[in-house]
Amino acid sequence: MKVLIADPVAKEGIEILRKEFDVDVKTGLKPEELKAIIGDYDALVVRSETQVTPDIIEAGKKLQVVARAGVGLDNINIDAATKKGIIVVNAPTGNTIAATEHTLAMMLALARHVPAANDKLKCGAWQRSAFMGIELKGKTLGILGLGNVGSEVARRARAFEMSLIGYDPFVSPEYAQNIGVRLVSLDQIYTQSDFITLHLPLTPNTRGMIGAKELATMKPTARIVNCARGGLVDEEALFNAVEQGKIAGAAVDVFSSEPAVNNVLCRSSKIIVTPHLGASTAEAQVGVAV
Ligand code: MLT
Repeated sequence: MKVLIADPVAKEGIEILRKEFDVDVKTGLKPEELKAIIGDYDALVVRSETQVTPDIIEAGKKLQVVARAGVGLDNINIDAATKKGIIVVNAPTGNTIAATEHTLAMMLALARHVPAANDKLKCGAWQRSAFMGIELKGKTLGILGLGNVGSEVARRARAFEMSLIGYDPFVSPEYAQNIGVRLVSLDQIYTQSDFITLHLPLTPNTRGMIGAKELATMKPTARIVNCARGGLVDEEALFNAVEQGKIAGAAVDVFSSEPAVNNVLCRSSKIIVTPHLGASTAEAQVGVAV
């Protein structure tokens, strides 16, 4: 079997594949370049950069499996693959802790203005009163999605003595209760939370689920953390809500289009941004590759 690895993947995973298969690593291919060579391969391994479109799948005459070294499958057209009998697999737990810890880092950075205070001091300004923060203790954390990452965030947020509410139509109240979360409606998440954190896949049902209407129902002190997928939130609406003081802030790791160098969210000083670093730990990259 011939395997093509089309995005950077940790060597520990590549070594395992090489024991069994003929493996080529060709990263940074343009869509037309990938389309031109995919016909030679039985398996394709990607992370989030490569878009596995119906065109690529059609050209992959020998393809049997598309593997995602990571969780989100929104860059792979599963319908097109399924129609051709191609199996799509992911690595659902390899980067859970990395994404969880990045979420908590974003919450704490928001609560205590860490990035802005760091920037000011390095520019020579000692502004202690400008960066008055809030504590996580006693605040309500609304968790959208109680899968692997949402559940681990819940476990750690309990240590901060936060009060946890969650929305997930696929988990039972007993499961939620076991991780200290009270299941509520989406509306209750929006209206009651001090922090809202998203841990959902991007699907036709979830795309744009937080827009101007939902933001308008949130507390003026609410803060949103998105380390899931950019397309879940209307970015223009989020920018306006933060800038107009309808909510207190946001911390965003993922964008509707990436790389997101000119994204509207990068223009607000009240929004913390990171370049899709949720899974970027040494441990997680080995985890998803293996
Ligand atoms: C994932 O879906 O696994 C994460 O967003 C990380 C990534 O895209 O590499």
